Amino acid sequence: MNELGLQTGLTIVVLGASGDLARKKVIPALFALYCQDLLPEAFHIVGFARRPMTDEAFRANVMEKLTCRYVPGHSCADYMERFLSRCSYMSGEYDSRDAYLDLYQAMRLLEGDASANRMYYMAIPPFLFLDVAEALGGAGLVECGPGATWSRAIIEKPFGRDRTSSDHLVSCMGKVFTEGQTFRIDHYLGKEIVQNLLVLRFANRVFDPLWNRQHVASVHIAWKEDIGVGNRAGYFDDYGIVRDVVQNHLMQLLALVAMEPPTSFDAPHVCDEKVRVLQCIAPLAFDRLALGQYAAARFQGQDCAAYRGESGVPAGSCTPTYAAAVLHIDNDRWDGVPFFITAGKALDERTTEIRLRFRPVSSTRFHETGAALPPNELVIRVQPDEAIRLAITNKAPGLDMRLVPSELDLRYQAAFAAKIPDAYECLLLDVIRGDRSLFVRWDELAAAWDIFTPVLHELEARLVQPELYPFGGNGPESARALARRFHLG
Ligand code: BG6
Repeated sequence: MNELGLQTGLTIVVLGASGDLARKKVIPALFALYCQDLLPEAFHIVGFARRPMTDEAFRANVMEKLTCRYVPGHSCADYMERFLSRCSYMSGEYDSRDAYLDLYQAMRLLEGDASANRMYYMAIPPFLFLDVAEALGGAGLVECGPGATWSRAIIEKPFGRDRTSSDHLVSCMGKVFTEGQTFRIDHYLGKEIVQNLLVLRFANRVFDPLWNRQHVASVHIAWKEDIGVGNRAGYFDDYGIVRDVVQNHLMQLLALVAMEPPTSFDAPHVCDEKVRVLQCIAPLAFDRLALGQYAAARFQGQDCAAYRGESGVPAGSCTPTYAAAVLHIDNDRWDGVPFFITAGKALDERTTEIRLRFRPVSSTRFHETGAALPPNELVIRVQPDEAIRLAITNKAPGLDMRLVPSELDLRYQAAFAAKIPDAYECLLLDVIRGDRSLFVRWDELAAAWDIFTPVLHELEARLVQPELYPFGGNGPESARALARRFHLG
């Protein structure tokens, strides 16, 4: 018996199995779990998509993206072979009850007489979620088989385009899969350092007392990518950076940074506190948002196309690829502290960082040294090269009293021998375990949409043109002006 102690089998249906998400993330993550003996002994993976394909072709397709991070190189081929022997494929229309009746037969054949829990990973465009859920329900696949205890659906953003469409999706999906059966992925919650945020805050005496308006001057959550939208232009142009990254990934980071201590670290308590803090944020005002769109430029030795030059982007598109926003949390802990959120594609580097800037020390006793003391900053680097750094002021070693900015620096790679799991490994394992703490509850989603829905509608109504910034640059000037307005520079 493996670590999970699961004797019940598990059938994992990956809908959209021929797409990038399934091939590059979901199935490799399942392989990583398999290599660590974290899948039940009797597991089966069934790929389902429209395109006809043989089992062999599906396996060959899947194999290209499997990597052997967790098993010694010499036995890797063996692991792959055994894993792939559990993978099969079926083609069918996504909204066809008949196709799912066939799928059901195929699953029963694989499962034999044994009971099996079932996971449905919807690696498909969101406009298909409802059709698929209804067809699965109609074919009876959501019912648990004899002896099995659960069936679960996994979906990934975008969940709607605004509060209304998100509510509609939640309520219609809810008719087939209950909230308890629905696992909404925000893959940022599966990232190692994001999972560490509550530990850092609440398991360290030194941080908790400082984590409030008395001591924190501002919080900056900064997300950057150094690539354009590439072949995702069709999707991206419909959503833009606010819906693609800010409303979900960055609001989840903000909620974890700003929430009150939960009663326990169990999922309902953590979600309750995330919802509470998100509900304390007023809808983003139009004048607290700066938008940009990347323009053609030479970057890293290449001529990079403008957003409007990407294939699939309509001429004259006003879709922003960069956004900067200032949010305020209206509660006792954070009253008056600006939360600066920036997110941009085609910038100078790929990083995600959370930066808490502390208020300056009031003491004048160091003034005679002539040094202007820089504020302390706690930087939590989510990616790449996970790290936690605290900027402090230190005496430079020597006979005189000279103060220098210095850093306490915890770099994960140097400090921890363990491999950092991919976010999907961790999230899929939690679905199997039934641990919901890293998934987005319906009311978190609603609260995050409430912050952005009015301004998104206003932007669309006014056809606001984002400011152009060069590919590989720093983002638009209007974002820096917004930062200066709130003394965040
Ligand atoms: C996705 C967005 O959710 O996250 C993409 O749709 C973005 O636009 C991606 O590139 C970033 O994820 P990560 O894990 O590479 O930071």
